[in-house]
Amino acid sequence: MEKMKSRITLSLFLVFLSMSSVHPMKPKKQYKPCKHLVLYFHDIIYNGKNAANATSAIVGAPEGANATILAGQFHFGNVVVFDDPITLDNNLHSAPIGRAQGLYIYDTKNTYTSWLGFAFLLNTTDYQGTIIFNGADPIMVKTRDIAVVGGTGDFFMHRGVATIMTDAFEGEVYFRLHVDIKFYECW
Ligand SMILES: *[C@@H]1O[C@H](CO)[C@@H](O)[C@H](O)[C@H]1NC(C)=O
Ligand SMILES: *[C@@H]1O[C@H](CO)[C@@H](O)[C@H](O)[C@H]1NC(C)=O
Ligand SMILES: *[C@@H]1O[C@H](CO)[C@@H](O)[C@H](O)[C@H]1NC(C)=O
Repeated sequence: MEKMKSRITLSLFLVFLSMSSVHPMKPKKQYKPCKHLVLYFHDIIYNGKNAANATSAIVGAPEGANATILAGQFHFGNVVVFDDPITLDNNLHSAPIGRAQGLYIYDTKNTYTSWLGFAFLLNTTDYQGTIIFNGADPIMVKTRDIAVVGGTGDFFMHRGVATIMTDAFEGEVYFRLHVDIKFYECW
């Protein structure tokens, strides 16, 4: 038995050795972004009283919860659709340069996390087009990376990574995200 075990260990070691000679450890490639944008967007969640200013709405809630107040248990099961203004600085009242549209889904039962799927729709003299984002957002972590999976217009065939950071948070009604977009593929 022992002998067999050591034989298996040896053969596994040999397989590992042969693999590592085929794929020698390469130093990690340093990528440089071909385009870089820093933007903010502002989410005001409808709470039954702020219809005039709200930019997002709960459209899905777990059994027992409703579409006015985010559910307990880390909002697990809530789905929120948003149409949020994008600004160049952190001021909600700055002139918007576009809209962030899409949804987030609270998807962990024992902490705050969400799934993000949204687009930036930009229509300014500098940028016209859309940028598409997808990814897991561990909300309690200071900076989170999500994928920039594509784009249109000025962002035709662009891909990269966006680092998001919660820049402000007011109860369960308002939050602001700082979005640092680095494109590694541009056309
Ligand atoms: C909506 O926004 C305006 C302007 O920022 C503010 O004066 C008003 O109090 C807000 N209303 C609600 C219901 O939040
Ligand atoms: C929604 O649920 C909250 C508790 O989570 C409750 O306080 C509120 O009254 C409910 N609103 C409606 C419109 O049912
Ligand atoms: C972009 O802005 C221009 C000028 O304000 C407007 O004519 C055009 O319809 C807008 N395009 C989109 C896609 O919103």
